[in-house]
Parts: sequence; C-alpha cells; structure tokens
Amino acid sequence: MEDNNAIRALVLGAAAGGGLPQWNCGCANCRLARNPNGGLRPQTQSSLAVTANGHDWALLNASPDIRSQIEANPVLHPRALRDTPIASVLVTNGDIDHIAGLLILREKQPFRLFTTPAIGDILAANPVFEVLDSNCVERITVALDQPFTLVNGIEATLFAVPGKLPLFMEGENPETALEGEQTVGVELTGSGKRIYYIPGCGRLTDRLTDRIGGADLLFFDGTVFNDDEMARAGTGLKTGRRMGHMPMSGEGGSIDALKGLAIGRTIYVHINNTNPVWQQGPERRAAEQAGYEIGYDGMEVHLT
Ligand code: MLT
Ligand code: MN
Ligand code: ZN
Repeated sequence: MEDNNAIRALVLGAAAGGGLPQWNCGCANCRLARNPNGGLRPQTQSSLAVTANGHDWALLNASPDIRSQIEANPVLHPRALRDTPIASVLVTNGDIDHIAGLLILREKQPFRLFTTPAIGDILAANPVFEVLDSNCVERITVALDQPFTLVNGIEATLFAVPGKLPLFMEGENPETALEGEQTVGVELTGSGKRIYYIPGCGRLTDRLTDRIGGADLLFFDGTVFNDDEMARAGTGLKTGRRMGHMPMSGEGGSIDALKGLAIGRTIYVHINNTNPVWQQGPERRAAEQAGYEIGYDGMEVHLT
C-alpha cells in the first residue's frame, strides 16, 4: 500500500560526474564495475528524485544519465501517451553532471525548472538549453534562503555551501570556498520531516552544521574518501578540496564533521569512481561504523 503522506527519496544516480565506470577510466573500481563478475554494480551520475504523494516527483539535478535513470525507475515512466510524473527539476550547481540531463528533457514536455539566479544565468548563456521550449518549461529563479513549493507536498529552501564555479568556467586558480549562488544545498520539508540534499560541499561550516543538525535525513557529498585519492590512483592531480568537495576522511573530513549532529540517516551520494567505499574494505567500514550509509542507484528512503 502506498502511503500518500510520506516523503520518498529515490537515488537515481549515486556516482559523481563520470559515473562508475567512467568512459575513459581504467582504475580498479571502474574495471570491477565493467566486469560482470567483478562484484561492483555500475552506478550512474548524481541525481535524486523526491515525492510526497507518489504521483508528482521532483528531480534534484538532471544528470547526463537521466534517460536510463527514468527507464530504470518505473515510478518515473509516462502514465499516458505524452506524460511524465516529473513535475519539477532543481539544479544545485552548473556542473555538467547536474545540468546536461536537461537536454534530454526536451520534446515539449511541461515542467518547472528551479535554479538560483546565478545558475539560471549559466543556462541562459548557453543557447543549447533553448531546446527546453519556454512555452513548456517554466524557468524559475529562487533566491537563497527563501522557501518555495518544489512539488506537491514538499517545500524547498536553497542555501549557500562552500563550492566553486562549474569546471567549464573556473579558469586557472578558482576560489574553492565561494559561498553564494553557484553551489547550493537544498532543505526539503513536508509531512513533518526535514531532509537535506548536499551533493557538493567544500567545507562544513558552523553555519551548515547548525542548519542540518537534527534533520531526519541527509544526503551528503561523498565524492572522495581521501583528499588525494585521485593522485594516489593515478587518475589525476586534483584533490577533492580543489574540486570543491571535502573528503570523507582525515582532518576536517565529513565522517568526523558530521558526528554528533543527531541526524536520523546520513547517506553519501555523488561518489567518485575512485572512491574506495564502493568496495567492501576498511574505508567503507569506517563510514558505516560511524553510522553513515553508502548510496547506490535505486536506493529508496520512505520517511514515515
Ligand atoms: C564536480 O562535481 O566536481 C564536477 O561534476 C566535475 C565535473 O564536471 O566533471
Ligand atoms: Mn559533480
Ligand atoms: Zn575509475
């Protein structure tokens, strides 16, 4: 029986930009994910779906994998000749893993697209997004810290989290702890519950921990376990922090920083393909023993 008064959150894509496996990556995790007997299920790029009534859904981020994500989740299938249960889409930054799926949502289908003014400007500056016909798709810019109705039964509030400009706009030496409209977290409330979705976060400031303390559910940035794991894996030189993502482990890492905040459930998402938590092992155990969960495609949370 469907409970029509409970928020449901469905992880459409638990991986970070690139997915698992990533098209050009031969790291240990990507190789295991390509091997049918490797024991690692492939994971798609960062997106979450939420509903309060089981009929109208909002997508938090539109990943390049959105087509397969919709097909993999029957609750998002059309219920009529031309139709979608997706009533609205909200993007939390301007990176490719969070906006490229908008291009797949063309074909004159009405929905509401929520962004901050700054992210809205990025979309407006790229004419390719004009495929979202303005007669169908209503672009709505929302100011930080102003509650709005995201979808039937769910109110959302956007708030600044430390981050940076999208990769394709960042230039040589980007500021990685910008707190403004370019990287936001989302507070969702409805049916007496309080949920946070923060897929990118450079640092947990006191302001953020004050805000998220006592929440029923938190989806949090799990991009890298070790700040330098991409260099260790030989896949790149950038640290997690340089990419605007605080690591899970180490000094100032999220495993410690989220401790004691009395959050009902904490689920890591936006997990990079190099992150060792994809595998059973000491890193995953460290996260799980601290009480956190590792998200995966198709993971569903019913907040009753
Ligand atoms: C990120 O989260 O750092 C970005 O998704 C990187 C990218 O666009 O590849
Ligand atoms: Mn990303
Ligand atoms: Zn890889």
